[in-house]
Amino acid sequence: MATKTTNTATAKKTTKSTAAKKPAAKPEEIKSAVVSTEKKKILFVASEAQPFIVTGGLAEVIGSLSKSLAATGNFDVRVVLPLYSDIKSAYRDKFTYLGNIYVHLAWRNQYCGIFQYEKDGVIFYFIDNEFYFKRPGCYGYYDDGERFAFFSRSVLEIMPFINFYPEVMHCHDWQSALAAIYLKTNYCFREEYQYIRALFTIHNIEYQGQYSLDLLGDLFDIFGSYQYLVEYNNSINLMKGAIECCEKFSTVSPKYAEEIKDPYYAHGLDPIIRKNEFKLTGILNGIDDIGYNCALDRNISANYTPEDFKNKAICKEELQKELNLPVRADVPVISMVSRLVSHKGLDLVTAIIEDLLQDDIQFVILGTGDSHFEGFFSDIARRYPDKFSANIVFNGVLSRKIYSGSDIFLMPSKSEPCGLSQMIACRYGTVPIVRETGGLYDSIKPLENGYTFSNYNAHDMLFVIRQAICDYKNKKEWKKLMYRAATTDFSWNNSAQKYSQLYLDMLK
Ligand code: GLC
Repeated sequence: MATKTTNTATAKKTTKSTAAKKPAAKPEEIKSAVVSTEKKKILFVASEAQPFIVTGGLAEVIGSLSKSLAATGNFDVRVVLPLYSDIKSAYRDKFTYLGNIYVHLAWRNQYCGIFQYEKDGVIFYFIDNEFYFKRPGCYGYYDDGERFAFFSRSVLEIMPFINFYPEVMHCHDWQSALAAIYLKTNYCFREEYQYIRALFTIHNIEYQGQYSLDLLGDLFDIFGSYQYLVEYNNSINLMKGAIECCEKFSTVSPKYAEEIKDPYYAHGLDPIIRKNEFKLTGILNGIDDIGYNCALDRNISANYTPEDFKNKAICKEELQKELNLPVRADVPVISMVSRLVSHKGLDLVTAIIEDLLQDDIQFVILGTGDSHFEGFFSDIARRYPDKFSANIVFNGVLSRKIYSGSDIFLMPSKSEPCGLSQMIACRYGTVPIVRETGGLYDSIKPLENGYTFSNYNAHDMLFVIRQAICDYKNKKEWKKLMYRAATTDFSWNNSAQKYSQLYLDMLK
């Protein structure tokens, strides 16, 4: 899609931020941020990170992976994020203002304030420019290309200021693709930057950052001689550019790394993936196993452990009460916590839901998304008030009550780079049913910790759901399955180890 910037008048002036009024940090404060030189220096570049700003799974991964890598003691991990106005003042007020620089992007010369905050052994930097980031939400603006070009350029420009040249610059998704592209096309010729290696991780190949070729120099500040790196199908494609420019690239599960070589999954990028296959790896995401712990979670109605699920019945009862469903311990509660978009497999659910509701079950859905699905499920809830509960909201506390209070968790995605919800459901002893794709395939094994089906077919899915409903009645065996699900190791330990190895390989 061609995106034309129309903000010339505003952008020609340099844009200054009111945030700059705080006093600059003293040089010794800046120096204290530099930890042992023995540790390998890793810089994450991302557009969101928990707990500061969250719109999806990417934020969870940035927050929890950076923490786990820092905890190994082998890495000095830092993260750069935009300073969105949606970052809550509870955090923002604690950020230290380090100073500001001006960042050139073609004819623009933009203010770039730099804030710092340390959490769980990771240093976070925030790029401040109110013209770009003082808006509600993170994405979806006509000038997203310019906003993230500025962000990516700033990441490279702040390095001398913060005195941190990473050994690996780990970029995530299209919003930070330009950092890898700029490194290769400009910065790696400068002495301080020449040893930086770029790793690019694809969390979702659907969003690639596609723009009109007219914007190459004027907006993205890329020389014509480098057009071949970012050009794809007569457009600029930033994800393609990052794949070409990085030393290595990865996706968030081994299965998805295989799948994106195939046109069915690659949203048009499969020839590029195949061409660069020699530098591709798939590493399964983990989850924050302390944050998602049924024994500790204060958001759920009662705590329990995989050894003693007794209190999970209280969670179920309270959930049924809250959602105005008949309170019945014996009926299986099937749940979905999902964005209501078609690649999450919702067309399979809409195709069979009325059939399924003839069985003695309750079905709970939580999420927002396409109005078509929102309307469909609200209508089903009106027609089957004793069996179906539609919660068309984004509500973190309710999601945990659903994970803990239901028996079966459905995730029939058409494609799923990794998926975190199936792992979270397991942690709460809720048995997942998934389609065998991407990270769902890699994390859920039939009858070991859940149920799976392979073809993207509504009746294959219905067959497996009915098998699970039948197995649910055998309480003894079902408890064993719940136990195996709840004790599957989804911590970051294994995956952080794999990333560590990947970084070390890149530095050889
Ligand atoms: C994206 C993917 C999801 C993955 C998450 C974190 O949101 O759609 O499958 O779990 O990124 O990597």
